[in-house]
Amino acid sequence: MATIILDCDPGIDDALAIAFAAGHPEIELAGITTVAGNVGLDKTTANALAVASFVGAGAVPVTAGCAAPLLRPARDAGRVHGESGLGGAVLPKPAREAADGHAIDFIVDTLAAAPGEITLVATGPLTNIALALRREPRLVRWVRDFVIMGGSAGRGNVNHAAEFNMWADPEAASVVFGAGWTVRMIGLDVTLRARATAAVQEQMREFGALGAELLLPALAQYADAHNVAGEPPVHDVCAVVSVATPAVFTYTPALVQVETTGRLTSGMTVTDFSPSVIPNAAVATEIDPDRFWEVVLRTYGALAADIG
Ligand code: BDR
Ligand code: CA
Repeated sequence: MATIILDCDPGIDDALAIAFAAGHPEIELAGITTVAGNVGLDKTTANALAVASFVGAGAVPVTAGCAAPLLRPARDAGRVHGESGLGGAVLPKPAREAADGHAIDFIVDTLAAAPGEITLVATGPLTNIALALRREPRLVRWVRDFVIMGGSAGRGNVNHAAEFNMWADPEAASVVFGAGWTVRMIGLDVTLRARATAAVQEQMREFGALGAELLLPALAQYADAHNVAGEPPVHDVCAVVSVATPAVFTYTPALVQVETTGRLTSGMTVTDFSPSVIPNAAVATEIDPDRFWEVVLRTYGALAADIG
């Protein structure tokens, strides 16, 4: 069993990651924290609440975090995720509101109460995580594991150099990679290899309301720049799958440094795999897409049966 805090910016693929976490029998969601990213903080928080309720995780606390990056103005990805942030999915309004308090305090307090037990998973810009580290540097020792969807050892998606989560708040990403822990980085170059193909979407049609109201309408409007031939990636799901089924990924130690000053390269994760460096990251370099979808679809199938 792995207990996780999911720090996210739903976001289509973040929503699918929440659903996966809620449905997987070996994952316990200690909390969801939200950050501005794909859309503004009000929307990412409302979306997290709506998705959590819809997938039967209505008791999981959702705590709002930072509404803007550390130094830069907020730049969203509404063009990719739709105006609401959930593509074409329109979920019932949840009965509850976000928990009191700030995501940074939630992260610090929850990890302080259970050192070594909780895995922190970040699937949005790293603003909350950077500020949590500034508040409490011992987080690097208290996490059981820290995994992000973000960055790339190859090209980016916002532009040639940068992946969205790093580009949105490069200063925060730089703080996080420099904090003295090992960041498990599931980057864009790897997540792009596990696409929701026509065959995958066909199986999602079997998943009742989960498929018809969340998975399929969300994915149908995922205007990802790499959404070739109607086969969108599901980046953020990869990060949670890496906790539930580590063997889906293969990792290589690397030194990852985030460009913060480049005119053309701001947000680039400069990833050095040479043996002479002192690594600060375990970078996913391989994914088994068949096994990935086997785990994801099995989890969604069980969740669909649970929520009806
Ligand atoms: C990442 O950026 C966001 O738009 C997605 O939710 C994902 O976390 C992919 O680059
Ligand atoms: Ca995201």
